[in-house]
Amino acid sequence: MAAPHPQPLLVLDDVEAVYGGSILALRGISLNVPANGIVALLGANGAGKTTVLRSISGLLSWHRGRVSRGRIAYDGADIAGLGGAALVRRGIAQVMEGRRIFGELTIEENLRMGAFTRRDGAETRRTLDQVLEQFPILRERFAQPAGYLSGGQQQMLAIGRAMMARPRLLLLDEPSLGLAPIIVKQIREVIRHIAAGGVSVMLVEQNADMALSLADYGYILESGRIALEGPGPVLKENPMIRELYLGIVGAQEAEIASSGEGRR
Ligand SMILES: Nc1ncnc2c1ncn2[C@@H]1O[C@H](COP(=O)(O)OP(=O)(O)OP(=O)(O)O)[C@@H](O)[C@H]1O
Ligand SMILES: [Mg+2]
Repeated sequence: MAAPHPQPLLVLDDVEAVYGGSILALRGISLNVPANGIVALLGANGAGKTTVLRSISGLLSWHRGRVSRGRIAYDGADIAGLGGAALVRRGIAQVMEGRRIFGELTIEENLRMGAFTRRDGAETRRTLDQVLEQFPILRERFAQPAGYLSGGQQQMLAIGRAMMARPRLLLLDEPSLGLAPIIVKQIREVIRHIAAGGVSVMLVEQNADMALSLADYGYILESGRIALEGPGPVLKENPMIRELYLGIVGAQEAEIASSGEGRR
């Protein structure tokens, strides 16, 4: 039996982030991502979810933002100030909000871009084979422009492209956004499969149901702070979360609503 990993892969300690020198988006975030597993980050629009991912992946500076306080440690080392490419080389890959595939490039070209930091030709081809095995639709459409893919297929491509970097930590920003329930289910299985392969996943979602059904542990973000945290299954049963994020009203409210008294 393998011993559990003593040290989390990623640690955020009291991280504060600002945009444009004055907009405080994160107000002291502390969280851990274990070396194996899925961590969910939930919260309403503007809570700071994307900013957390940008702080980790080094993309904050693209948005005139910076980490203004706190520490981000990955694999035991401080990674503050490292650029995006350096972090990809160390094994951190991000799938950005809204997919951001290159519509005019072919699927093959999009996938190869994900491996831009790698110099191991034969190994990269092996990764490409694994990605195509996981996403048969990408093999089918290999030479076609990515812009022809449906929304769900583009999300698969975006995830496949991130996997081309052979990450140890995969950051996913709302992969279910705007997709039909059946596609969300497929994406959920893809994430499960990736995590089972030993990749740590940080999953940002507004779809709490999807995220908490996958996550070993979850954090709820509110106005740049962590309002609540706990194991995925525990959060899923939390009445506040059920009401706020799962759209399930308590029995009492449901009764009032159905009797029409709620309106008087
Ligand atoms: N480039 C930017 N410049 C200035 N402010 C920004 C920028 N990006 C985000 N913000 C602000 O930072 C805060 C957190 O935004 P962020 O995008 O991280 O939220 P989010 O939780 O990802 O929201 P959503 O669910 O809408 O994607 C918000 O108040 C937002 O307006
Ligand atoms: Mg966001």
